[in-house]
Amino acid sequence: MNLTVIGTGYVGLVSGTCFAEMGNTVTCIDVDENKINNLKKGVIPIYEPGLEPMVLRNVKNNTLHFSTSLKDNLEDCNIAFIAVGTPMGEDGSADLQYVLQVAKEIGQHMTHPMVIVDKSTVPVGTADKVREAIKNELQQRNKDIEFHVVSNPEFLKEGDAINDFMKPDRVVVGSDDEGASKIMRNLYAPFFRSSMDRLITMDVRSAEMTKYVANAMLATKISFMNEIANICELVGADVNKVRIGIGSDSRIGYSFIYPGSGYGGSCFPKDVKALKRTAQENGYDPKLITAVEDVNDKQKMVIAKKVVERFGEDLMGMVFTVWGLAFKPQTDDMREAPAIYIIKELCERGAKIHAYDPKAMLEAEHFYLKGLENVVYFDSKYEALKDADAMILLTEWKEFRSPDFEELKKQLRQPIIFDGRNQYDYLSMQNMGIEYFQIGKK
Ligand SMILES: NC(=O)c1ccc[n+]([C@@H]2O[C@H](COP(=O)([O-])OP(=O)(O)OC[C@H]3O[C@@H](n4cnc5c(N)ncnc54)[C@H](O)[C@@H]3O)[C@@H](O)[C@H]2O)c1
Repeated sequence: MNLTVIGTGYVGLVSGTCFAEMGNTVTCIDVDENKINNLKKGVIPIYEPGLEPMVLRNVKNNTLHFSTSLKDNLEDCNIAFIAVGTPMGEDGSADLQYVLQVAKEIGQHMTHPMVIVDKSTVPVGTADKVREAIKNELQQRNKDIEFHVVSNPEFLKEGDAINDFMKPDRVVVGSDDEGASKIMRNLYAPFFRSSMDRLITMDVRSAEMTKYVANAMLATKISFMNEIANICELVGADVNKVRIGIGSDSRIGYSFIYPGSGYGGSCFPKDVKALKRTAQENGYDPKLITAVEDVNDKQKMVIAKKVVERFGEDLMGMVFTVWGLAFKPQTDDMREAPAIYIIKELCERGAKIHAYDPKAMLEAEHFYLKGLENVVYFDSKYEALKDADAMILLTEWKEFRSPDFEELKKQLRQPIIFDGRNQYDYLSMQNMGIEYFQIGKK
């Protein structure tokens, strides 16, 4: 099939590349000329394991193309995917301006019947708005071209996106037209070798809702466990033990019950907020979803609070090493990362930060911590420790799991670790003479 993917970000680039890998001919479109020019030269704009070789292979095979022109690439296209951003609007709702702009452009340039797919995360009712926007443009051109708008939300995880896309737990297709559903089934069939049970078809509104509910459910698990961690500290319990105690119950399970510094990233914060807005706009007061968000906002500052409790309100003259800036491992994405909030708080109190992250340092320096003179970046995690008063761990990259603690003790002014991801064993830290602070255990 000939596919056009509009929006070449995490989702657009990964899905376009994976569809090309399965033998489709794909053109990824973006308004960002720099990004497209770089991709044409083989420069991949994001870090995602396995993505680069797959992009290069498909470009070489002529199955993957990049362009800034939607108009030039709709002619032979069977399916157009809308994969542009849906950032948080001022009132917390999803900002649909990019999605609707693309819909408008499709209507302006469409020449033949096709399926238009909402892959961006969009609130219930967006497919209707996309349909309306396309129809309006067709009417202005006096054209009567058949098209169907399908919802196909994306569930990939940054850091494991290729695996998630190539071997999906499920693919959700929301469609009100049998023909469009069949086209989507054929497109996804190669991703399900043995059975198509994991391709779940439903009506458009339920598909749109499913994506928000999945993210809100995962965010709820995280906030629940973080709240439990805070209570554990007050009552003298160890959340690490409690986690194992409850996770062993198959009804609960182990995933997403790790206590930490709160969730970040491009999806959970904005999607939880957007679901809350949708509920409110429909006259419902979403108490649980509101609490999930409140708990998370507070949780992002728990480690900074522990630093202040240990060193005092005024951190002038103190140096802290931060290991991990990305919102999670295996990505360079820093959107809404707890590191942003914690580092800013410590800098405001006068501290200097020695930062190290395997992949996210450019993002930090050029965007998220831009202009913060108190932050210095290091190429090695051990160099970053030199002459610091404590190490603060904020992203659970594998290379931080089992560091050389003797080297760490040698480099730090005092052997103190604040662990925002509960990566180390409390007793071992004590035995090594390291003053160790973690989440959910005092
Ligand atoms: N990042 C994730 O892990 C993830 C996972 C699942 C779903 N989603 C959802 O997918 C959508 C895209 O997310 P993302 O992380 O890929 O965003 P992103 O910001 O990485 O990429 C969006 C891209 O769209 C481009 N764009 C904007 N307007 C355009 C236009 N008119 N024409 C062409 N390109 C245009 C931007 O230049 C940008 O490159 C969002 O709705 C997001 O919530 C993201």
